[in-house]
Amino acid sequence: MKMVVTGGAGFIGSHLVNNLVSQGYEVHVIDNLTTGDPCLLHSEAILHVADVRGDQAQNVIRVVKPEVVFHLAAAQTGGQQSTKSPSADFETNVMGTLNILDACHAYKVRKIVFASSYSVYGNLAKELITEHDSVNPLSFCALSKLAAEQYIRMFKHYYGVDYTILRYGNVYGPDQTAKGEGNVIAVYQEQVQNGQPLTVYGDGTQTRDFIHVKDIVKANIAAIDYGSGEILNVSTGHSTSMNQLIDIIQSQLSLPFGVNYLPAKPEDILHSSLNITRICAVLPWAPEYTLEQGLRETCRHWISSVHL
Ligand SMILES: NC(=O)c1ccc[n+]([C@@H]2O[C@H](COP(=O)([O-])OP(=O)(O)OC[C@H]3O[C@@H](n4cnc5c(N)ncnc54)[C@H](O)[C@@H]3O)[C@@H](O)[C@H]2O)c1
Repeated sequence: MKMVVTGGAGFIGSHLVNNLVSQGYEVHVIDNLTTGDPCLLHSEAILHVADVRGDQAQNVIRVVKPEVVFHLAAAQTGGQQSTKSPSADFETNVMGTLNILDACHAYKVRKIVFASSYSVYGNLAKELITEHDSVNPLSFCALSKLAAEQYIRMFKHYYGVDYTILRYGNVYGPDQTAKGEGNVIAVYQEQVQNGQPLTVYGDGTQTRDFIHVKDIVKANIAAIDYGSGEILNVSTGHSTSMNQLIDIIQSQLSLPFGVNYLPAKPEDILHSSLNITRICAVLPWAPEYTLEQGLRETCRHWISSVHL
């Protein structure tokens, strides 16, 4: 069976591509390599260097005729940059999604599995956020993800292109770089390796729901056959503050490092933890990694990749 992964040369995309290849799928990657790295890809993955906004991406889908398109390509502007330049997020995340949807419709792709984000919820004063809670994006990046979700829903309604929308928590794991989105752990890796203090915006009590990239990959693969027409949170349901995260990294690396507290950023979400009851009911899936286990593996990877 053939699959297309947009953004497949990126952090999460490459883990997904390599897993799909190892399961015997013929995997085509559409990636313009703005942040992606072809070296991360399995040798049997077929890379098409193309932009999701262009005709070339449509052409790949026309020729390959995949069963499923995993749509992960996204402008990785990050909150602050996205506030300065909203059009970059709009062009890739909305126009790019629309272009991919047009191709899915025209060339009879059965399903699109979309990488959305916890950020669509904004700041909700709630312990655990469910998919039925209100959405209130605080950044243009989050807004563009929400708009893309709505286009995806309408393409099913009007044209029958099936979908599963996965709203990821904060993803971490091997090969993540500080260039990507939601990448505080990768930023800390870089700061540790450069001997710099770790940066915290605010007082460090803000929380995130961290999920290991291998658990995200498993949810994507489960969505090939399950979760038709569903929007699903994908995370662990646990919240961890930045201060707790730093303590765990410190205990894994057994290295002393300072912490530099800077003023909080207006677009930052204060607390985020996702209710995962729905995904666990709809997909044959549950998160396997605790943050401690995942960081143990990730920190080992840091140590083996660079001499601290
Ligand atoms: N990393 C996280 O914590 C997180 C959280 C929530 C959602 N997501 C979503 O998951 C997806 C993957 O994120 P990631 O962390 O792997 O980021 P990443 O930057 O590592 O991967 C994104 C990939 O998309 C490619 N790309 C960017 N613009 C493109 C374009 N116009 N045409 C073709 N390719 C393009 C990049 O080259 C890169 O390979 C994104 O959609 C992101 O919004 C990530």
